[in-house]
Amino acid sequence: MFDTKTRTVVIVGAQWGDEGKGKLVDVLAERADWVVRYQGGANAGHTVHIGEDSFVLHQIPSGILHGGVRCAIGNGVVLDPETLFTEIDELVKDGIDVEGRLYVSDRAHLVMPYHKLVDKESEASKAIGTTGRGIGPAYEDKAGRRGIRVVDLRHPGRLRELVQRGCDTANMRLERFGSAQRADVEQTMTAIERVAPRLLALADDLGVLLHRAVKSGASVLMEGAQGSLLDVDHGTYPFVTSSSTTVGGAATGAGLAPTAIHAALGIVKAYTTRVGNGPLPTELDTELGERIRKLGNEYGATTGRPRRCGWFDSVVVRYASRVNGLTGLAVTKLDVLDTLDRVALCTGYRVGDDVLQEFPADITALEQLSPVYEWMDGWQQSTESARTIADLPRAARAYLDRLESLVDTPIRYVSVGTRRDQIIDVAPQG
Ligand code: IMP
Repeated sequence: MFDTKTRTVVIVGAQWGDEGKGKLVDVLAERADWVVRYQGGANAGHTVHIGEDSFVLHQIPSGILHGGVRCAIGNGVVLDPETLFTEIDELVKDGIDVEGRLYVSDRAHLVMPYHKLVDKESEASKAIGTTGRGIGPAYEDKAGRRGIRVVDLRHPGRLRELVQRGCDTANMRLERFGSAQRADVEQTMTAIERVAPRLLALADDLGVLLHRAVKSGASVLMEGAQGSLLDVDHGTYPFVTSSSTTVGGAATGAGLAPTAIHAALGIVKAYTTRVGNGPLPTELDTELGERIRKLGNEYGATTGRPRRCGWFDSVVVRYASRVNGLTGLAVTKLDVLDTLDRVALCTGYRVGDDVLQEFPADITALEQLSPVYEWMDGWQQSTESARTIADLPRAARAYLDRLESLVDTPIRYVSVGTRRDQIIDVAPQG
């Protein structure tokens, strides 16, 4: 993926999240100098399997598992300090050296304990099916100009004023939800003062560091979280997360100029999953959906919730390709389909007499349409040991060829298992 001209690459989910971004970041981080998270927060759960070990990273970029790679949490992320330090301590216990390799933007906003309270209590009325990590309320405070940024930890007096304001807003909302829970200023101050020195030690002006790195020819991998269909603008609003998950958000959320981005790799599963509520046109609410869930171990890495499963939806991924300007696709979990006797690709949405080819904004329409499927033979052979496209069964190759032409974006990688080595690089570089 990286070469002399392509130095900054964004990894972005092109469905509803959980596409296997962690694995691709892990594979590509080998050639990267920096790996940067640009949005979301501890709602993400990026899983990386190395040998017998598996790591689930919620806030720290997956590149941390490669010694020597610098990792950064950008200004677009909402950072939960408590879970960040739990994650760092666990990595250190597992022998991963984090010291001096992890940077946090001093402009990143903090997820406070009261954001998590509000997130959980607001679910009763909103029913988005959030992860409960305080993500939405933290971004609401950011947009409401009352958020707390990492840099604010430098000034205890100002910090107290901001915490007071944050607690007041949270308490107003908790009262409105009919919750008996309340945010407490002293408790919040104690919690934040406990982590402040450690967080400030990681804080830096990340935009400057990345700008210098890019100028000196470093390769930068931007690690998106969630997926394009969960983007606050382009996703199935209001059943979305609160950040810009798409490539446009990578520039804003890392503090790098959009013109510094050279390529965007869209990660897709060979089928579709979604966790939480909201439209999922190709959902299989059947025994087959249950079978795919079991075969693919489709349970949320952050919340453990069962994921909803369905066929690959080329309307969705074509849309994601356009919005993100994808230069390539990585198709993951092809092996999950190995035992099926036939497989389907959704090619359009039937609404009355019309067949839609573009993903609609209207979620009522999305709930009412019926997907148009193209059926193909299954391959009924294991693909797990394939390391080149030629190693794949003919029917699997035909499936990928059709998927590629429907989405109109070249496939660059195919993942055929959870392990690092279970990957096909379609166009390996020397
Ligand atoms: P929030 O990001 O916790 O506010 O949740 C909003 C929506 O995004 C819910 O439907 C979540 O299930 C979904 N979501 C958030 N993070 C992820 C993720 O990392 N993978 C998949 N879905 C996610």
